[in-house]
Amino acid sequence: MNCALFACSLACALSLALVQGQTVAEPKPVLAEDVFKNVQVLKGITVNRFMETMGLFSAALGMSCEDCHTSSDTGWQAYAADTNPRKRTARRMITMMATINRTSFGGRQLITCYTCHRGSDRPIVTPNLSTLYLEKIVDPPDIVAPFPHAPSIDLVLDTFIRALGGADRLARLTSFVATGTSAGYGPESEPRKFEVFARASGARTTITHTLDGDSTTAYDGSSGWTAAPHRPVPVLALTGQDLEGLKLDAQLSFPARIKSALSAWRVGPSDTLADRDVQVVQGTTPGGVVATLYFDKETGLLVRQVRYAESPVGRIPTQIDYADYREVAGVKMPFRLTVVWLDGQDTIQLTAVQPNVAIDPAMFRKPAAPPP
Ligand code: HEC
Ligand code: HEC
Repeated sequence: MNCALFACSLACALSLALVQGQTVAEPKPVLAEDVFKNVQVLKGITVNRFMETMGLFSAALGMSCEDCHTSSDTGWQAYAADTNPRKRTARRMITMMATINRTSFGGRQLITCYTCHRGSDRPIVTPNLSTLYLEKIVDPPDIVAPFPHAPSIDLVLDTFIRALGGADRLARLTSFVATGTSAGYGPESEPRKFEVFARASGARTTITHTLDGDSTTAYDGSSGWTAAPHRPVPVLALTGQDLEGLKLDAQLSFPARIKSALSAWRVGPSDTLADRDVQVVQGTTPGGVVATLYFDKETGLLVRQVRYAESPVGRIPTQIDYADYREVAGVKMPFRLTVVWLDGQDTIQLTAVQPNVAIDPAMFRKPAAPPP
């Protein structure tokens, strides 16, 4: 036993005891300043979260990486340079934003880059009279408030379970292996071969076979990793809220126990998504990931998940749309998943799903490093 284990909390010790034969002590998170050369403000966050804040900056300002950095041709080192004045401005803005939130909003993170910038480099100053009286599209708030006339959460989730085929059939689906394609965003993104390996016990691995090597996300029920070509850390162990995101995806692949996947459930008002009426519900994971689920009111099926991880510069959203539900071993399964995050999009189309197959446990463990 090493010293780190003595420092373990009771909860950690319990989870160690629960999962046998595996090393489950959460790895020490890899922090941004451990990997990058010139991190002055965004210290103390994981390298994964740091890269997501870069996606957040880009989305909030309508910029691409090169607008604040120089050309990335020379690899990750090029990003360390402070030659671009926009990068230096952005750094000042992080501090300004934190000061506003601290001094005017009691430390609540209400002002973010997006609050001011709304997708442009310079915030708009004056109301535009030519659009003032036109109907505006208002984005819904991230946090769903309980709606007084909403159905109970049990009713919404029980309807979902029934729509999938019922609790009995769901209980009989214990694993699946699926193949299909994954296509990125943009014209030159050819569909790549894609595979999912999943177990109802809560393990899930996805592999995209790209031209430059495999891009793998693995979750074994307690530990998780991403491994992909051209990343600052080739095989990255995920921690905290990132790990909880993987766990949620594993749980939603076998939704029999969806009620316990989140807590503090709130049922919001109805909404519409692509002209369909949907019921919006929201819950929270133990580590504070907020997840919003949208259920089609007519079919009862889950059509969207949006989850938010916390960062020092605002919530980091990930959205997954579920469509093309088909029956596998009597259970409806979404064959098309559209995953959208701050600097990318993947459309996954499954073509074949084999239910209840034995899967080598190694599939869910730490993936091999992609080719350099
Ligand atoms: C609005 C400006 C802005 C945009 C857009 C932006 N960045 Fe950054 N980037 C920064 C700032 C500011 C820092 C330094 C943060 C600090 O000092 O804490 C930084 C630091 C980095 C670093 C660390 C470099 C090192 O070795 O110190 C990397 C890597 C990076 N950015 C990658 C990206 C990528 C990839 C994108 C596009 C997805 C991107 N950035 C978009 C402003 C930006
Ligand atoms: C309170 C409002 C506000 C917030 C919050 C804010 N900005 Fe700004 N930002 C501005 C204003 C106003 C300007 C234009 C300043 C000027 O023209 O001198 C600006 C300009 C910039 C510029 C220079 C753009 C250019 O092309 O010259 C960058 C880069 C930038 N902001 C990044 C950020 C980042 C990153 C965040 C979040 C960490 C952020 N800003 C948060 C108000 C804000």
